Amino acid sequence: MKHKISVIGAGNVGATAAQRIAEKELADVVLVDILEGVPFGKALDLSEAAPIEKHDAHLTGANDYEATKDSDVIIITSGIPRKPGMSRDDLLATNATIMKSVVDQAVQYSPQAVLVIVSNPLDAMCHVAFETSQFPKNRVLGMAGVLDSARFRTFIAQELNVSVENTHAFVLGGHGDTMVPLPRFSTVSGIPITELMDQATIERLVKRTREGGAEIVSLLKTGSAYYAPASAACEMAEAIIKDKKKILPCAAYLTGEYGINNLFIGVPVKLGKEGIEEIIQIKLTPEEDAALKKSAEAVKGLVEAMKKLEV
Ligand code: APR
Repeated sequence: MKHKISVIGAGNVGATAAQRIAEKELADVVLVDILEGVPFGKALDLSEAAPIEKHDAHLTGANDYEATKDSDVIIITSGIPRKPGMSRDDLLATNATIMKSVVDQAVQYSPQAVLVIVSNPLDAMCHVAFETSQFPKNRVLGMAGVLDSARFRTFIAQELNVSVENTHAFVLGGHGDTMVPLPRFSTVSGIPITELMDQATIERLVKRTREGGAEIVSLLKTGSAYYAPASAACEMAEAIIKDKKKILPCAAYLTGEYGINNLFIGVPVKLGKEGIEEIIQIKLTPEEDAALKKSAEAVKGLVEAMKKLEV
């Protein structure tokens, strides 16, 4: 197959992303993990499903980075997931150390790749990847907004009893409790949800979206969500591999856009083969702008805390 996507971390999110990528025949997939055997076993198992699922994507397992050479996209899911009672921020020190080591090795073999970061706390992990890789800002981005928007869309569709395909939603800001779902830009067949639901209902769905990750953690008990996160990462990889110029909410490094400087935060971007090809600036209401700034402050606090950890 012409393209190559490497997925670092062959755990729940990574292996599910590999499955989705292969089944869509987006690219050959290399699954990397530090665990002995596991990435090889999962790659082989997925390969053995290929005749039934009818795809010709090649899947390879690895414990080192040689097989990842010249990847077009590298999706990084390595790290620990949260358990009940933990916030994404509690993962900071462990996952920052892992992110640094993974990015350092991966970029040596794929200096032209686009890095899609999935590990949490997401926005802070994007900073680690950006600084370690020294890549231009368009080639480092984080998966959060697509997932948070998909959660919001699911709840909108369930509430109104309409097809999820009719829904569209935008969630900006950091991937945490301060994320900013934008009801004004969330629609059903082009109709803003503000026309279809009362304020109390919208607020209920917004709250459930903000707490969407924690809701899954409290049900699974042993880890965090992975089907929807994998789907979201796969949609981003597809937009890049196929040069689709798709507008999606992603964590991007801002240098003045939305009045925010030198910080990764979720905003609408145009995704194509160069990674982030444009940051779309929409005019926010004073309330929306204040919520985005508050979210940026939370991310900034985390990035500063991480610097003090000296990982
Ligand atoms: N190099 C490669 N792989 C690593 C490394 C490393 N240095 N350190 C850990 N891993 C691997 C683990 O061995 C494990 O297989 O990362 C994998 C993580 O998988 P899971 O524990 O199943 O976690 P998952 O649910 O996939 O979540 C991964 O994504 O959504 C985020 O918050 C989540 O940070 C978490 C990450």
